[in-house]
Amino acid sequence: MHNVETFRDLQSEATEWRRYLHQNPELDYRVHNTARFVTEKLASFGINHIETGIAETGIVALIQGEGGEGPTIGLRADMDALPIIEASNKPWSSQIPGKMHACGHDGHTAMLLGAAKYLANKRNFKGSVALIFQPAEEGALGGQRMVQEGIMDRFGISQVFGMHNMPGIEVGKFGICDGPIMAALDEFDILVKGRGGHAAMPHQTIDPIVIAAQIIIGLQTLVSRNTDPIESLVISVTKLNAGEAYNIIPEHAELAGTVRTLSPELRDFAERQILASARGIARGFGADVEFEYRRHDPVTFNHTEGTSLAVNAARKLVGTAFVNDKIKPLMGSEDFAYMLEARPGAFIFLGNGSSAAVHNPKYDFNDEALPYGIGYWVNLVETALAA
Ligand code: NI
Repeated sequence: MHNVETFRDLQSEATEWRRYLHQNPELDYRVHNTARFVTEKLASFGINHIETGIAETGIVALIQGEGGEGPTIGLRADMDALPIIEASNKPWSSQIPGKMHACGHDGHTAMLLGAAKYLANKRNFKGSVALIFQPAEEGALGGQRMVQEGIMDRFGISQVFGMHNMPGIEVGKFGICDGPIMAALDEFDILVKGRGGHAAMPHQTIDPIVIAAQIIIGLQTLVSRNTDPIESLVISVTKLNAGEAYNIIPEHAELAGTVRTLSPELRDFAERQILASARGIARGFGADVEFEYRRHDPVTFNHTEGTSLAVNAARKLVGTAFVNDKIKPLMGSEDFAYMLEARPGAFIFLGNGSSAAVHNPKYDFNDEALPYGIGYWVNLVETALAA
């Protein structure tokens, strides 16, 4: 098993790839140039089983080990960027105005390519590795689509692993936990249907703005008064639209927001109780509501066996003290969750140092983290598929 020094050789090359991808960001499923770049690199490493065009622009490549028969494990990287105007002032800043790799998916892609190069060269494992490069992680469900298009069965993948960089964790350190590591993401819309009229004669109206205000407070008490304080429920009202004039009480008010949970029970509770609370409050004032609730990413759930494999692989790379295996889950979401619904495995965070936060215009992936990510993937394969 290797410490990080083994992978320093790959750092300068991986840095070139990463900065090229950073300068050429692409959005959602339209990662055509990125996918072409990845495919060409994989082929140049001597990998001959490469399937492209999965979920439009996704790629799965298979590397067979030389250690004999064995299972296939999946390693996943995401390739898409964000619609942000970059302000990092780095020499390798985005050359495409309004698009930016602000979540480090350029680094994720470069690290999986670095691991691919190493693994294709050494092949010191049994079974096979499936390298999964997915489009559209940022809200467009590319991971879900790759699962729906059958990659797990088609490539015989029995376990699947993901990695994301994390600003605020030092470079060379890892963070992970067993069980839920990222939250489920849902969205809701509430239309409050009141009765409009003259603002000077409120008694002749049913004011949807006052009702909306009560509903917002009511939703916060679902968190503070109806949820076990040890459990996590986030309800954020993020849109509020009503009215157009100083002297008119409008007919309607619209609220919308997001819900984050770590358990299926709390997710069901939130969906049920947001409606019950909003409707109850509105009816108390003689109004009513229309309600829509949409479920998006499920909980990113780390399985126990996959988590301990991941912890071992990282510890062999950087030592026990630099791998925190009991981090607190994050209330953000990840569409890798769909892959972990389909197969057991684990998702780990890789330190990105003191950079700006992800999705910030000043963010940049830290190239010093590249050999750690590459080394983690290699150690994971050589641990899970020890010949
Ligand atoms: Ni991301």
